[in-house]
Amino acid sequence: MKNKTEKKGSAQLTINGKTIDLPVLGGSVGPDVIDIRTLYRDAGVFTYDPGFTSTGSCESQITYIDGDEGVLLYRGYPIDQLAENSSFIEVSYLLLHGELPSAKELEEFDWTIRRHTMLHDQFDQFFRGYRRDAHPMAVMVGTVGALAAFYHDSTDINDPKARTIASHRMIAKMPTIAARAFKYSVGQPFISPRNELDYASNFLRMCFAVPAEDYVVSPTLARAMDRIFILHADHEQNASTSTVRLAGSAESNPFACIAAGIASLWGPAHGGANEAALNMLEEIGSVDRIPEYIKRAKDKDDPFRLMGFGHRVYKNYDPRAKVMRTTCHEVLDELGVKNDPLLQVAMELERIALEDPYFVEKKLYPNIDFYSGITLRAMGFPTEMFTVLFALARTVGWIAQWSEMIEDPTQKIGRPRQVFTGATERAYLPVSKR
Ligand code: SDX
Repeated sequence: MKNKTEKKGSAQLTINGKTIDLPVLGGSVGPDVIDIRTLYRDAGVFTYDPGFTSTGSCESQITYIDGDEGVLLYRGYPIDQLAENSSFIEVSYLLLHGELPSAKELEEFDWTIRRHTMLHDQFDQFFRGYRRDAHPMAVMVGTVGALAAFYHDSTDINDPKARTIASHRMIAKMPTIAARAFKYSVGQPFISPRNELDYASNFLRMCFAVPAEDYVVSPTLARAMDRIFILHADHEQNASTSTVRLAGSAESNPFACIAAGIASLWGPAHGGANEAALNMLEEIGSVDRIPEYIKRAKDKDDPFRLMGFGHRVYKNYDPRAKVMRTTCHEVLDELGVKNDPLLQVAMELERIALEDPYFVEKKLYPNIDFYSGITLRAMGFPTEMFTVLFALARTVGWIAQWSEMIEDPTQKIGRPRQVFTGATERAYLPVSKR
């Protein structure tokens, strides 16, 4: 990666009677940044920004979000145009390489991914160590981390060829691992990937086919699955991507870094929100109970939040949620479940929340997780699998961000500091004197 920030000016900071100049750097779009790398050396102070609400952790050329305008670009291409016209494999190539592939490049990339979908025969033993009712995200964290035990030939992060092979292996094998986590939870035999199927069709077949009969993938559901993968593929420096980057900055192998990302994504405040949103809709149960939950969401003393609403960056409608909403209606129409009571609750909850002053003032709009849960449940996935599908799709984003970090000449091991408010130095007291 070639660093492309340019100096736009400087900011003066006066502290403890000393004024220092800090360079202001600009990118191609978005807010300028104040380069504070010399701050501690020159002024003896740290910055303080819990949750990193005003902190840029890196330079990146992959994904750009304008939260106020509800804009999401993958390598400059708007998410709605990619969801409408592209495929997950083509978007994966774009995220990894920075440009849309030629027909030949796409064919070669697709061929490579299709031929890395199988797992080592011994790998299946890992699943059998879990209880059948284990949360599939627990299975994903454990099994993806274990990939490093099988692919020593692609764990040398300083070898570009090894990084490419590891990247292809991760992208190709995640659907096979995710489908196995699902099959294991329902006590059905694992279904082998098929090279003649496209990425989304292969995944749906590994999830829903049974050896007792042939399984034909619905083109509408395959298209919807592929679009859902596109929507979830990358999203700037979110919590799980930052986790992957931090683990990667310590030169951990890519499989371990992705396992760390899965662990972070699992949280209900992050990727676990699709599961939490559906559970919330089921708990609300009917339209007439919505006011009670809206009241709880506003109550500062009640930890309840409307799952699927709000976002750290989007202070406008999440552009992915718009596409997800359309996809949701297409899937429900295809499956003939247009009158899903949960959809009625979701539509009414969205209508009320978009009019309620509390949500309007705090700019709390539905995010991608609000409609994805309803769609995935209609497609036959149990609620616990929703975040697994999110992790499957986000793997290419994590890999692209991890690769960019490794190739960034300015990258160093991530090591934040703190403001310490604990006990200052004191002498040990023997127990007889306490
Ligand atoms: C994802 O970062 C990414 O990019 C993530 C993601 C990705 O693709 O990687 O987009 C995926 O994680 C989407 C978000 C999914 N999470 C949820 O849907 C869970 C519910 N949402 C909230 O937990 C919350 O909105 C967060 C965690 C998403 C954001 O939390 P913030 O940054 O604290 O939200 P904020 O600062 O904008 O909150 C402003 C106010 C606060 O109240 P005050 O302190 O100002 O009084 O709004 C309140 C919050 O308490 N608030 C909510 C709310 N979300 C924020 N109140 C009720 N219901 C909510 N959902």
